[in-house]
Amino acid sequence: MRHLIDFADMTNEEWYDLYALAKDIMARPLDYKDALRGRVMASLFYEPSTRTNFSFQTAMLKLGGGVFGFVDANTSSVSKGEKLKDTITMCSTYADVIVMRTPVEGMSKAASLYSRAPLINAGDGGHFHPTQTLADLTAITERRGSLENMTVGLCGDLKYGRTVHSLVRALSRFPGNRFVLISPKALAAPQYLLDFLREKGIEYRETESLEEAIPELDILYMTRVQRERFDDPAEYERLKNVYVLTASMLAPAKKNMTVLHPLPRVDEIAMDVDGDERACYFRQAECGLYIRMALLLTLVRGGKFEPEHIPPETRPHRCHNPKCITRKEPYIPILEEDGRCGYCEAEL
Ligand code: CP
Repeated sequence: MRHLIDFADMTNEEWYDLYALAKDIMARPLDYKDALRGRVMASLFYEPSTRTNFSFQTAMLKLGGGVFGFVDANTSSVSKGEKLKDTITMCSTYADVIVMRTPVEGMSKAASLYSRAPLINAGDGGHFHPTQTLADLTAITERRGSLENMTVGLCGDLKYGRTVHSLVRALSRFPGNRFVLISPKALAAPQYLLDFLREKGIEYRETESLEEAIPELDILYMTRVQRERFDDPAEYERLKNVYVLTASMLAPAKKNMTVLHPLPRVDEIAMDVDGDERACYFRQAECGLYIRMALLLTLVRGGKFEPEHIPPETRPHRCHNPKCITRKEPYIPILEEDGRCGYCEAEL
């Protein structure tokens, strides 16, 4: 069974194939209108969404398929205490593909253990959001023709921003990229991500100043401070407007810089930036539709991703991360990958 839990489930060659397929769908959409006729997508959204939910549903409908699911798990038997294992086992007998967004880190990966259909992680807590990464890479490739040799600034909530975590790891696989991590200390990138960059020998630096970083950037990836991940509302209030990109701040930026944002935005990009030719975030969201169409086609038709390797081991220790799925549903077997939890990547 092939799933997309992390961009790492895909080879670079598979990415290029997927991008080519998305471009073909953009060019000839009607040629694909019956491509998944008779197939069904389960859309399980345990957490709010506009773009990911609607673009996946639109993608399946434009391919001729059908959709069922929920946008509030409390309308399903989850509200009666049904375990993840049973929900997924059942849905995967009805559906040809499952798309799942959750507030719990590692929950999509855990669900994939029990799914008889390909399962796509549409965002798991503050962990990963690989299909947003696919949209990001599509937008960047369209604008620049390549994913290589860029200085990429990531600004805002690098601690909880799952889109940042997925994108940094994805762009690290393409040569010549370096990263400028722009955040207050309280929202700095998690240690596992910094360790990942260090171990791969990828150049990065951390700064608190957006203004100082702007002139050197090829890509500026703005992010929202993730209110829903904060345990302390006062801490969110203190940090929520720490960065606000305005049109005048783009004056020293490269003329061909690309401004991205996974959206939704709150106040971190002023609306006067929208008219700047470097602003690419609405096109980025639109790209998400076509790359998700390509992904659904590939997975439902038995695409080429490598099978997940799930070791059947059960270890005595448990993950320390209180937000990990293994803490919420303790029957899920512990997976260890290089000393880290195989679901949320916390150090074991
Ligand atoms: N970028 C993104 O995931 O947006 P939604 O939360 O609206 O799906």
